[in-house]
Amino acid sequence: MMVTKREHWDEVYRTKAADSVSWYQPTPEPSLRALDELQLPATAALVDVGGGASSLVDCLIERGWSDLTVLDIAAPALDAAKARLRDDAARVAWVVADVTVWRPERHYDVWHDRAVFHFLTEAEQRIAYRHALEAATAPSSVVILATFAPDGPERCSGLPVRRYDAAALAAEFGSAFALEREWREEHTTPGGGRQSFQWCVFRRR
Ligand SMILES: C[S@@+](CC[C@H](N)C(=O)[O-])C[C@H]1O[C@@H](n2cnc3c(N)ncnc32)[C@H](O)[C@@H]1O
Repeated sequence: MMVTKREHWDEVYRTKAADSVSWYQPTPEPSLRALDELQLPATAALVDVGGGASSLVDCLIERGWSDLTVLDIAAPALDAAKARLRDDAARVAWVVADVTVWRPERHYDVWHDRAVFHFLTEAEQRIAYRHALEAATAPSSVVILATFAPDGPERCSGLPVRRYDAAALAAEFGSAFALEREWREEHTTPGGGRQSFQWCVFRRR
């Protein structure tokens, strides 16, 4: 029987502890550093696309950010984040959706995606992602994107991924988004493995 994307991710979050998955980071350091460098006000609106159970929102709430949205295809991922945040969960907008069919109803100053875009192995999925991105952002909005680098893993969570360097990501996002900064990161998984990530910061023209 064919397992849908949603069923796959629901099962991952139902069966694995949040701190045991390969993408777990105790603190989302690269994202926080990127946001610090952008010197955005705490009133900036941020959407964490495919945010899963990441603690990025916890860190941003602690820093006084007040307009936070987390979107994920897997409801159990968001449930884990909400349970961890307790009362603070009410300060976040939670959206269960597949980003490739999401129709955002507003604009965000920051679109953050760590390790989601690289799962879109079909060209049509990437076009659909870009439609959501374009609908959710406005000129000057910032996109913080992390994918596996060319020497990163070929699969994640049992699924094939597409790997990118900065030039390949810039080519994907086209002329509407200017590449402002890029760097590589070696992520250490909870099991002690190493994974090369490519990070890019784009600004919508
Ligand atoms: C590798 S995890 C990264 C989670 C989080 N960004 C982090 O850094 O901890 C990928 C996440 O993307 C979500 N995801 C996968 N495909 C998606 C899609 N098409 N739309 C929305 N979320 C998706 C998964 O449920 C999962 O939470």
